[in-house]
Formats: sequence, structure tokens, C-alpha cells
Amino acid sequence: KHHLLGIEELSQKEIEFILHTAEAMKEISFRDIKKVPTLRGKTIITFFYEPSTRTRTSFEIAAKRLSADTINISASTSSLVKGESLLDTAKNLQAMQPDVLIIRHPQAGAPHFLAKHIDAAVINAGDGMHEHPTQALLDAMSIIEKKGKIKGLNIAIIGDIAHSRVARSDILLFTKLGAKVTVSGPLTLIPPYIEATGANYCFPIESALENADVVIALRVQQERLKQTYFPDIREYAIRFGLNKKRLSLTKKDAIVMHPGPVNWGVELDPEIMDMPQTIILDQVTNGVAVRMAILYLVTGEKH
Ligand code: CP
Repeated sequence: KHHLLGIEELSQKEIEFILHTAEAMKEISFRDIKKVPTLRGKTIITFFYEPSTRTRTSFEIAAKRLSADTINISASTSSLVKGESLLDTAKNLQAMQPDVLIIRHPQAGAPHFLAKHIDAAVINAGDGMHEHPTQALLDAMSIIEKKGKIKGLNIAIIGDIAHSRVARSDILLFTKLGAKVTVSGPLTLIPPYIEATGANYCFPIESALENADVVIALRVQQERLKQTYFPDIREYAIRFGLNKKRLSLTKKDAIVMHPGPVNWGVELDPEIMDMPQTIILDQVTNGVAVRMAILYLVTGEKH
């Protein structure tokens, strides 16, 4: 049985195989009838303990394009509010024999815990501050579409690195595929283990932008910032926000990305929204293809 728990568990070859599969899946989205019978008869549950717009919707669209049956559960309308534990919830869902359980949870390691206790394939749709593997895969697909490769690129990730599961999964994936990753942002939002991930930290952000092929801005995660010293939002925008002037330091053909949701006017100046090199909505489009590939691969035979 396959799970997708994190980029950490994947080899370079496995990542490349997923990305090739996603490219093939994207073709289906260009057809008049965007549906194939590949996963007919499979049951897929999405269980989100945290809010989501992109990830949950794109998983559901992906499943429907492959003809799977989907059921969405959110924490606030489940028996979680009556005190049912994560394990009991999962065991009860398992009793209905789903093939795939997609989970987003505030606790790091929640999907790994479930994978040990249930038969369905488990997909991590974001676990606390740990990993968001499908986001990193769609980011990689979006970069490859524009740049043809990941290897050898200078990729700058700017902002709240410490609270970002996207940053962690991105760094793991891009370094496995041979990119040079530089992070920058307020020192209080840079995790102490950053060197161990294979990324470099540099300051001020201008030095991270110089020569970048790809710039990824991250959301300031105000809901996770309760215990951390943090400059106020206006100060953040002035010192760390990306605008046209700062982006002029990158390579001429650099692309600008963001996993969403964006705090416009904080980490990104609204003037960036419609620049041709801004590919934020292409990332969202590729999210469907990547999630189709993952659903197909976790339900299939071992490769
Ligand atoms: N990028 C991302 O995970 O967005 P959502 O939180 O809306 O799913």
C-alpha cells in the first residue's frame, strides 16, 4: 500500500515519476469531457481539520476527473466537536472501507499516525508546520513548465519560513532535484534547523533575490504567530514585501510564485498580481493535475 506522507520519504526518482504522471494527467483537463474512468469504484474521503480553499477543492476535482466517489468531512461538522479522538474517527471511517483518506491536521505527524492504524492509503494535505507534499509537487511542476527543469536553478523563498509546511516541503523537494535554495525573511521567522535542510539563509532579502530564477513568497501566518515576536504588518510589508523594485534584482526572466492564500499588500504588493511572470494561478491549475497523479499512484499497484 502506498501513502503520501511527505517529500522527505520520496526519492528523486519517485518525485520525477509523480511529475511525469502529473503532466499526463494535465492533458485530461484540456479535453471537452474532463473525465476518465480510471478510479471508478474507488472511495476517497477528504478530512480537513483546518480551513482550505485550494487543496480540498483540487483534490475533489482531481478525484471526480478520475471517476472516484468523494466524501468531504470538515472538523466543525464531524463528531470531533463531541470529543471523538483522531484515531477513533479514523477507525470509524476505515470501517466504511474507503480507498484513500486525505487529511489536513494542525498536528505535525497526524497523517503518519493514521497510516500506521488504517488500511486506506493516507495522503498528507498539510500537517501543522511539518509538510505539505502535494503543494511542493505542484510548485515543482509549475517551475518545470516555465523553466524546463529544477536542477541548477536559484530558488529564493521569502517570508515566514518557520511556520511554513510549504517551505519545508519545497526545500526538501527542490534540493533533492538539484536546485540551490536560499531563504530570507525576519530572523524570528527562520527556523534554527534551516542549514540542516540544505537551504541557505541570507539577509537582507535583496541578497536572496539577486540572481534568482524563481521567487516564492509565503503568507505571514498570523494565526500561528501568537508566541513569536513579530514586526507589525506594515513594517513587514516595508522590509520584506515583494514589489516591482525588489523583483528587478532577480534574473530578467524570473517567475514569482505563492502557495496562497495571499495577503496582498503584506508579502506581495498588488502591482505584482498581473505581471506576466506571476504564476500563482498556474500553480492552482497544476494542483489538480498533481493530485490526480497522486490519487492514481496511491491506489495503484507498486511501481
Ligand atoms: N496552498 C494551500 O494549501 O491553500 P489552501 O490552504 O487554500 O488549501
